[in-house]
Amino acid sequence: MARIDDLINEIGDERVRAGVAAEVKKLRDNKKFGLVFENHLPELSYLYSVPAAKGASVVKRGAKAAEVYRVQSFAGDKAVIRRDIEGVTETETVNPQELVAVKRYGEAIYPALLPVETVTKNEAKPYHTLINSDNYHALQLLLYCYEGKFDVIYIDPPYNTGERDWKYNNDFIDKTDSWRHSKWLSMMSKRLHLAKRLLKQDGVIIVAIDDLEYSHLALLMNSIFDGWSKHTIVTLVNARGKGGANFSRVHEYLLAYVAPSGVVLPLPKKLDEPLFEDLENSEDIIEEDTNSNTFLAPLRRWGQGSRRKDRASMFFPIYINKESLAIVDVGTPMPLEEEPEPFDKDGITAIYPIDKKGIQRRWRYGYEGVLDEIDANNLVVIADGNRFEIKRKETPTDYVSWKTLWTKEEFAGSSGARFLKYIFGRDDAFPYPKSVYAVAEAIFAATHNRPNALILDFFAGSGTTLQSVCYLNANYGGNRRCVLVTNNEVNEKTTKQLYKEGFIEGNPEFEKHGIAESVTFPRCKYVINGKRDDGTPLPGKYLNGRELAKGFDENLAFFKLGFLDPNQVALKTQFEAVLPILWLMAGAKGKLELTDDNKAFYIPENSPFAVLLKERYFAEFNQAIAKREDLTHVFLVTDSEDAFRQMTEEIKASGETVMLYKNYLDNFRLNTERDV
Ligand SMILES: C[S@@+](CC[C@H](N)C(=O)[O-])C[C@H]1O[C@@H](n2cnc3c(N)ncnc32)[C@H](O)[C@@H]1O
Repeated sequence: MARIDDLINEIGDERVRAGVAAEVKKLRDNKKFGLVFENHLPELSYLYSVPAAKGASVVKRGAKAAEVYRVQSFAGDKAVIRRDIEGVTETETVNPQELVAVKRYGEAIYPALLPVETVTKNEAKPYHTLINSDNYHALQLLLYCYEGKFDVIYIDPPYNTGERDWKYNNDFIDKTDSWRHSKWLSMMSKRLHLAKRLLKQDGVIIVAIDDLEYSHLALLMNSIFDGWSKHTIVTLVNARGKGGANFSRVHEYLLAYVAPSGVVLPLPKKLDEPLFEDLENSEDIIEEDTNSNTFLAPLRRWGQGSRRKDRASMFFPIYINKESLAIVDVGTPMPLEEEPEPFDKDGITAIYPIDKKGIQRRWRYGYEGVLDEIDANNLVVIADGNRFEIKRKETPTDYVSWKTLWTKEEFAGSSGARFLKYIFGRDDAFPYPKSVYAVAEAIFAATHNRPNALILDFFAGSGTTLQSVCYLNANYGGNRRCVLVTNNEVNEKTTKQLYKEGFIEGNPEFEKHGIAESVTFPRCKYVINGKRDDGTPLPGKYLNGRELAKGFDENLAFFKLGFLDPNQVALKTQFEAVLPILWLMAGAKGKLELTDDNKAFYIPENSPFAVLLKERYFAEFNQAIAKREDLTHVFLVTDSEDAFRQMTEEIKASGETVMLYKNYLDNFRLNTERDV
C-alpha cells in the first residue's frame, strides 16, 4: 500500500487529497482475510401497496432501481418528482400511476400484518403464521415480536444460479450481472444479521445451499456466527447427478450452526429411522435434557414393535407411590388375553405401558430387566397432573449423534416435487421444492427434544417447512410452531403476460399469481385440511403410511405485510392495524378477532393478552384482567412514561407490560438505524 500513499501525497488539491486518503483508509480498515465483497450496493424495497405521497421516495415503474426520485408536489392529476445528480437538480412531471414508492434499506418502516385468511382445525393449539412480504421487513417486524425467541431458523435461499432465480432491486439476476455474487452476499448478510438476533441463546440456524455459493456463504456465516459450533452436512439432492463437465453433482449442503450455549442432542439408537417409522401417538419419545450428560427416555417402548402383542412378556404393572414418586413394586407379566386392572389404593397406583392415546404398548425391558434397572437406580417417575410416566436415565452411549452425510433417497428434490403434484395435481406449481423429509430431518435434529420449538423460515418458497413441521408434530407429538415468510414473486413469463393484459404489481389481479398467494398459502392450507378448496381429498401417503387426506390437527394464519403512517400510529388511530402484531407477540394463540379502538379496553377471551386503550379506565381494566391467569402480555396505551410505570406497578395480572404506541414507534425508528 505504500505506493498508493506516495501517489496520494502527490495530489495537489488539499481537499481531494484528504478525501482520497480517507477513502483508502476505509478500504484498509475493512479489508479482512476471507470474504471481501462490495457491500455498498443500495437495496431498495418496493412498496406497491403504499401510495406515492408527497415527500416519498419513488422510482418509475420498470426503470433502473438506482434512479430514485422524491415526490416534490402534485399539480392537478400529475406528480412533480425531483432528483439530484452531481449537484444538478432534475424535475419531471409524471403520471402518479407510473411511480412506485420505495424505501432504502435502513430507512424506517412501520409494519402491520394485514390478515388474509385463516385455517383453524384445533382451537386449543397456537397458529402457524405465513407472512407474504420481502423478508427484510418481515425480519424487522419479527424482531419486535420475537427477538431471541426462535429455537431454529431453517432457510433455503435462492442459490444464485444465474438463471434468473431471484431479484435484487426488482430485477432478476442473471449470468451477465458482474455484481451477481456481491449482490447476493449483500442481500444475505443483511438478513443473517437480523436472523441471528432472532435466535435463542441456544438456537440453531440451518441454511441449504449448493456449490455455487457454498464457499461464500460459509465465510459469511463464519464471520456473523463467530464462536458458534459450525457444521456442514452433505445431502443427496439428485441421485442421477447433474452438471456438465468433469463431475456429476448429486449433493448439496446444509450449513448447520449451533449457538455457543446450544446442543443438538443425539438420537436414541432405537430411533434409527426416525422419520419413516409409524411413530404416531408416541409423543412421549421426546427426551428431556437433564442439564448433564444424561437424558430421560420413556421406559415404554415406542415405534415399530412397541405394541403389547409384539412381546406380551413385557407387559406388566409397575407400582408407584403417587406422593414420593418412588417405585414400590413390580407385577408379573400378564397373559395377552388378560386386561390390565386399574389399581389405586393408599397412595399407591399401578402404571402399565399404555400411551396417552390408550394404546397398549410394552416396556423396553422384561420383568427381570426392570428389577435390574430399579436396582441400578436408573428409573425415575415423572408426574404430569394425574398421569405418571416412568422414564429411564440414559447416557450418551445409548444414543447416536447425527451424522453429516445424508444420503436417503427420500431427501432428493424429486420427493419434494412429488408432494407438490399430490397437492396441486400438476407438475409446474413450483420449481425445486425441497423434500419434506429432508427439511423434517433437519428440523427434527434440532428440535426432537424441544416439542414446543418456535421455528422460522424466511425464504419459505412453496411452504415445505410448514408441512415438515406438521408431520413432525403428528409423528412425535408436540406443538412445534412455525413462522414462514416469503415474497409474492410472479414469474417472468406470467409478469409479461399480465402487463400485456394491463395488470401491474399491487393490483389484486396481478398479485394473485404470486408465489405466496398462489402456491405457499394454498399448499399449507390443503396440507392441513387434507383436501383442496374444491373438496378433492389429497392423494398419496407419507412414508410412515399416513395419508395426506388425513390432514393435520393444526392452525394457520396468513398475512400480508402492510405499512403504517407513523403519525397516524402516534395519533392512536391504528389499533386495528396493530392488533395482529400484538396477537403474534402473545404467541398466536386463539382465533384473531379484529376490533376497532372504540372501547375502553380489549381482552380477547381465547388469547393471552389484554390491551388498555383508554387510560382513564385503568381501574376497571385492572379489575377485569385480575381474573385472567393466562395472560402473557398486557399492552397499555399511554403517552406518559410515568403513567406507564405506575400502571405496571399496580397491575394485577402476570405477563410482560408493553407501552403502546411508543414502544412500537421507537422500535422501528431506532432499531432500523441500528440495523444498517
Ligand atoms: C429456493 S426457494 C425456497 C424453496 C422452499 N424451501 C421449498 O421447499 O419450496 C426461495 C424462495 O424465497 C423467495 N424469496 C427470494 N427473495 C426473497 C426475499 N427477499 N424475501 C422473501 N422471499 C424471498 C423466492 O421467491 C423463493 O420462493
